[in-house]
Amino acid sequence: MNPHVIGIPAFGLAVLLVFAFFGIWVTDLQGQKSGGSQLSGDISAEAGREIFWGKGKCYTCHSIGGEGSAQRCPNLGTNDQFSDPIWVRAAVRKQSEGYSRERYIVESIYDPNAYVVEGFSKGLMKPINKPPIALTDDEITSVIAYLLTEAGANDAVPEDVMAAVLDAQRDFASAKVATEEFVPGMPVPEGDAEEGFYVFEEMKCHSCHKIDGMEFEAAGDAEGGVGPDLTGIGDIQTLEYLAESVMDPNAIIVAGDGFKGDDGNSKMPEFHDTMTLREFIDLVAFLSSLKAEG
Ligand code: HEC
Ligand code: HEC
Repeated sequence: MNPHVIGIPAFGLAVLLVFAFFGIWVTDLQGQKSGGSQLSGDISAEAGREIFWGKGKCYTCHSIGGEGSAQRCPNLGTNDQFSDPIWVRAAVRKQSEGYSRERYIVESIYDPNAYVVEGFSKGLMKPINKPPIALTDDEITSVIAYLLTEAGANDAVPEDVMAAVLDAQRDFASAKVATEEFVPGMPVPEGDAEEGFYVFEEMKCHSCHKIDGMEFEAAGDAEGGVGPDLTGIGDIQTLEYLAESVMDPNAIIVAGDGFKGDDGNSKMPEFHDTMTLREFIDLVAFLSSLKAEG
């Protein structure tokens, strides 16, 4: 253990102690990842904060209290809808099934559709250890440590809590628990993203959807706002999801104000009669190329 933990900055002695105590378990977890990284000094709430607001892309879908602007997914802090932050409500979500809060929070990251928060859409959040986000187990541990500190545990996450997180994580990381996937049988063919830009413009997708940093020819009355902001959508969604969103808008309806019409269906029209297959494939490639940064 020691060579791995020397030189870790500020964050919790607590976490270090946990790793010392549960070193064997952690080694076990590491060992079961194919080509997994070594346990490094990078596991910390501070690292978790950077991942949450950076490469983990959590911020594209989730805000924490007043921090962040994402609306499509549950606020992980408190707001009008949630009077308790995630760490508190995690304790009761699957209490009747004997879940600890640690197990719930771990499951909600590795297997998000096992429990779907009321009012939100099944299938929207993908297992975070798989593409497109594909965080390592260590990175996920850090994000959880961060959510803990955000929820009022201050900087020092109690040892027993971190131990329970690692214990729950071990099951999921080693894939002992099968995760449900939403993948159709046919892979999406590779398209031309540049051509897809013109399809997006021609189909006037931008009359309902905004993409930061992109200008399109006049769209008519609405300039985005009817549908979700698509900035960075390629970073958080699979090709299959993007293809399905265009082919069948009602398959998964994003939760959000005004996304559904009075009939309960998505306000997004179908493009079956106006789009060629070539255009469709290029459009999906374009959506998938939309990155959050740069
Ligand atoms: C594509 C959007 C999306 C991304 C990206 C995303 N989530 Fe989620 N998340 C959701 C949705 C939708 C739900 C609610 C539906 C459900 O329970 O699956 C949810 C639920 C959760 C919950 C359970 C909330 C509760 O109240 O019980 C947690 C915890 C969570 N996400 C953490 C994360 C973390 C951490 C990340 C980044 C590593 C992340 N999510 C990235 C969409 C997303
Ligand atoms: C009349 C407005 C409207 C038009 C035009 C429209 N959409 Fe949508 N779109 C929506 C709404 C509303 C939603 C959210 C409800 C849902 O999930 O279907 C949505 C959802 C989506 C999503 C899922 C977003 C997410 O956050 O997961 C994608 C991707 C998408 N649209 C792409 C497109 C593309 C590409 C076009 C053009 C071919 C298009 N839309 C045209 C209204 C529109």
